Amino acid sequence: MKVLLIGSGGREHALAWKLAQSPLMTEFYAAPGNPGIAEHARLVSLKVEDHEAVAAFCAQKAIDFVVVGPEAPLVAGLADRLRADGLKVFGPSAAAAQLEGSKGFTKDICARYNIPTGAYQRFNNAPKAKAYIRAQGAPIVVKADGLAAGKGVTVAMTVEEALAAVDDCFEGAFGAAGAEVVIEAYLDGEEASFFCLCDGRNALPLATAQDHKRVGEGDTGVNTGGMGAYSPAPVMTAEMIERTMKEIIEPTICGMAESGYPFSGVFFAGLMITAKGPELIEYNVRFGDPECQVLMMRLKSDLLPLLLAAAEGTLDKVTAEWSDDPALTVVMASKGYPGSYEKNTPILSLPEAGDGAKVFHAGTSLRDGELVATGGRVLNVTATGQTVGEAQSRAYALLDKVEWENGFWRRDIGWRAIERERA
Ligand code: AMP
Ligand code: GLY
Repeated sequence: MKVLLIGSGGREHALAWKLAQSPLMTEFYAAPGNPGIAEHARLVSLKVEDHEAVAAFCAQKAIDFVVVGPEAPLVAGLADRLRADGLKVFGPSAAAAQLEGSKGFTKDICARYNIPTGAYQRFNNAPKAKAYIRAQGAPIVVKADGLAAGKGVTVAMTVEEALAAVDDCFEGAFGAAGAEVVIEAYLDGEEASFFCLCDGRNALPLATAQDHKRVGEGDTGVNTGGMGAYSPAPVMTAEMIERTMKEIIEPTICGMAESGYPFSGVFFAGLMITAKGPELIEYNVRFGDPECQVLMMRLKSDLLPLLLAAAEGTLDKVTAEWSDDPALTVVMASKGYPGSYEKNTPILSLPEAGDGAKVFHAGTSLRDGELVATGGRVLNVTATGQTVGEAQSRAYALLDKVEWENGFWRRDIGWRAIERERA
């Protein structure tokens, strides 16, 4: 099978590493890719936003299957364009990708299909939004409707903070994404991520993970794309997984199909486990980054037939096997991230990773043959262990061998699970 992978982050390196192990793979390309992905696939310098160029490349190479990593090309309709040429694609249509592309769309699906989530209202002007906030009181959550690179959400502990967030949205802080805001009730509990493949009708639950969104140790400081993750998330017991499937995922699959937007690809449900049980915070329509890295470390099955089954509508005929051993990944980021940071700083040495350990490339490039950091999140140092504690020790032992002056990272990835293990 000839496969093209779209994307260039740590998530895509993990997907590439796993896909390349498939006996079904005959030719493997990635666009635009990164130096880590280049170990597994031939890199193609395509502009992913240019859908015609991607389609032309697929025709020229007789590609059979395209795996789309990030959300932006999905929301922009890349999967639709390629399917129009008869290609198999892993990832939803633009219409179904609204589950990530519009928070208001998702909340409306939740309301119509009785999916547990925080009570909410949508607003397209500041005065009405502010009146609602004053009536509800704090804590309360203000969200720009559209894609805002994870920055469009304010969890406001005071009414003043919430009012200021409304002004930010309507004054253009998030561009077009902020033309509408969703205001929703604050959910109290422990967060977890749940991943589930879907082919429009059938679902195949994958695994759970927990991310560390804040930049600082002890979960302090500003939100980032994620500073580290581990899988599984202990809060997601078998009972919680069953309830999530029944109360959240299955009604979403039916609701999307009934609304005319059948969903195929991966559901990445951001959940809050509250006193009432699992409630939906948000959907993403692609694998999490860095959650994907820990999922791929734990997946024992061949990934390619699973993704293909999601694209072909045959998920009821496949199963996935997982290692019981937890996996943990630590993100090494450029100093200054998620604010501005220096680019092209040299990474002098990367350690050899052995069995059950792997350094994934997220934001790296080669310049004159030398490895440099070009992104905010640069490397994902990943390891497995019999416990989260052991996976953490192994990941940090490996990380300590990375020679990169301009990097920083959190030292406490996995703390919540490790506290549980010690209790
Ligand atoms: P999102 O971009 O929707 O994932 O939101 C970013 C983060 O804001 C989430 O990971 C949560 O930590 C927090 N958050 C979002 N919505 C809520 C809510 N209704 N209640 C509490 N926290 C929330
Ligand atoms: N790590 C969170 C995300 O991928 O959205």
